[in-house]
Amino acid sequence: MQVLHQLPQLKSPNLLVGAATADDAGVFRIDRNRALVQTVDFFTPIVDDPFTYGEIAATNSLSDVYAMGGRPLTAMNLMGIPTDLVPPKIINAILRGGAMKAKEAKCILVGGHTIRNPEPFYGLSVTGLVNPQRMITNAGARVGDLLVLTKPLGTGIITTGIKRGIASKALAQKVIKVMSQLNIVGAELAEKGLVTAGTDITGFGLLGHLGSLCRASQVGAEIDATALPAIAPEVHRLIEQDCIPGGTRENLKTAEDFTAFQSATNAQKFLLSDAQTSGGLLLCIAPRRLAAALRILKKLRTPAGAIIGKITRSPKPGIWVKN
Ligand code: CO
Ligand code: CO
Ligand code: CO
Repeated sequence: MQVLHQLPQLKSPNLLVGAATADDAGVFRIDRNRALVQTVDFFTPIVDDPFTYGEIAATNSLSDVYAMGGRPLTAMNLMGIPTDLVPPKIINAILRGGAMKAKEAKCILVGGHTIRNPEPFYGLSVTGLVNPQRMITNAGARVGDLLVLTKPLGTGIITTGIKRGIASKALAQKVIKVMSQLNIVGAELAEKGLVTAGTDITGFGLLGHLGSLCRASQVGAEIDATALPAIAPEVHRLIEQDCIPGGTRENLKTAEDFTAFQSATNAQKFLLSDAQTSGGLLLCIAPRRLAAALRILKKLRTPAGAIIGKITRSPKPGIWVKN
């Protein structure tokens, strides 16, 4: 949401990434080789199991540091909970899920804050480190870069299907596995200088986040809709049953302003707009670096390594979807 533009802003030559480019995190230079990456994210429960919810929320929060090519250092819990309705055992399970993921990310939990709130929410504020010469931002994309997506799409559609009771148990397990996988690959690729630009795919869907990247880099993007990976074929059946979250519909409406869909099917449009929770990274990679990047994706068992399109020269930033 564009609510930052009227706020008083202090300028600093050390502010390398601020609010202007809709990036995943702010980046502030400490010295030549080090910059702080700062981000905060939280959301309401998307799965029933409290431990799994904690894991997914933490994975999603940590992702914004990885999406900038950084490594998380420290984190703090942010929680709102209706303490009169939720027993301490459940609260503990959420926090344990988050702590497990922070540990996996080698990120130290240093504290946090909990408030009483009618609707539960949980997430982390994360501080990371990145080499400013190697960071991944929305603004670095170059014409000819290939677009590589590291997780399959459909978390919004599937979690809606779970809530409606029309998703299979196997599909529910699959989506949880995808959502709780850390995007460490962003840091690995950045440190080896293999990425020119990138972002993670979350609430605004693939088109929304790619749109921001195109605007920040002043380029166009071409997407091959037949190359889009879905979490499972069942996602298409859910779309046919009109199992589309409100956020996904809104994303599609917004994206229509800067996207030419040509002959894309409705299913492809919804997949491209689906609001993701703890989604994958969308990375711009020069063709000559692709093989090295894909090797790292494979080594880290990244859920997807799909080449879904490329960056194009364009007088106006926008997205062209081919089928
Ligand atoms: Co993000
Ligand atoms: Co975020
Ligand atoms: Co970014």
